[in-house]
Amino acid sequence: MNPGATAAGDILQPGPLPNRLQLTPEGRLRHLLTVEGLSRELVTEILDTAESFANMNEKAVKKVPLLRGKTVVNLFFEASTRTRTTFELAAKRLSADVLNINVSTSSAVKGESLLDTLRNLEAMNVDMFVVRHQESGAAHFMARHAEPGINILNAGDGRHAHPTQALLDMFTIRRFKGDFTRLKVAIVGDILHSRVARSQIHALNILQTGEVRVVAPHSLLPAQVQDLGVQVFHDLEQGLRDVDVVIMLRLQRERMEHAHLPSEHEYFQLFGLTRRRLHVAQPDCLVMHPGPANRGVEIDSAVADGAQSVILQQVTFGIAVRMAVMSMVMGVGGA
Ligand code: CP
Repeated sequence: MNPGATAAGDILQPGPLPNRLQLTPEGRLRHLLTVEGLSRELVTEILDTAESFANMNEKAVKKVPLLRGKTVVNLFFEASTRTRTTFELAAKRLSADVLNINVSTSSAVKGESLLDTLRNLEAMNVDMFVVRHQESGAAHFMARHAEPGINILNAGDGRHAHPTQALLDMFTIRRFKGDFTRLKVAIVGDILHSRVARSQIHALNILQTGEVRVVAPHSLLPAQVQDLGVQVFHDLEQGLRDVDVVIMLRLQRERMEHAHLPSEHEYFQLFGLTRRRLHVAQPDCLVMHPGPANRGVEIDSAVADGAQSVILQQVTFGIAVRMAVMSMVMGVGGA
């Protein structure tokens, strides 16, 4: 990889040993690039730390001085509603100053490289970057090149990883269901293009979930997906039978290079989650979706807004989980 390459264009390889980059020699979190390879203890520590912030977020005064004097840069090269705003809220509730870079009006549109963008923002004495990028490996690239003392948090890179999304999903499941070892969890939809699914599968396996299933047509599954430690289903009703949690995924049309599906209507007929289909799952099965949801494509509104849906709680818990990750990489702990 040419470190001076422009932000768009190059496929940045994440590299095989993320923990050498994202952990300190003592095993503390320095960056958060991927869930893959994290220990069960560290993931549990993140969830426990988030629990203390979730309690704080329910109080009248939702602010602690843990990151006072620190500057966090939100650097989003791709669209986002939930991740960008909850990272911003998380940083503000930790008393950090927040700089939101609007990439569409930044010098990236004039061809400035990711490395030059990093170097220029570092020259402003910032402390942490939250980065979303269309290329897999962009956050790893920044972590490899960042000055000592700078923390990089991956807010989604290409098809590769979305670690804080997976962690907030684990937090949500733990809040409602407790022990992972007894659970059957189904992830349904466009697994092939989903960085969220990849991170969720790693997180669920790290937490020793009883059974992790993926449910999708052949055309929306990566090759050798079973090697990630999942049971594969191509029929929605079979895949949902007796599950405790179902996580629906958005069809990522923007990442599809070829026609993977005949039509959204047909997809909904086969893989859309409706009340009738949910009946084969456990009666108290949680319905989750990382968002943005395509109603009538992968999920019916009656289910997305129904009693079993925790989709909006996922968003709420995202603030606490992001506060936990930010405070831990800074080495300042919980509320
Ligand atoms: N779940 C998620 O990443 O949503 P946004 O794209 O809105 O951040």
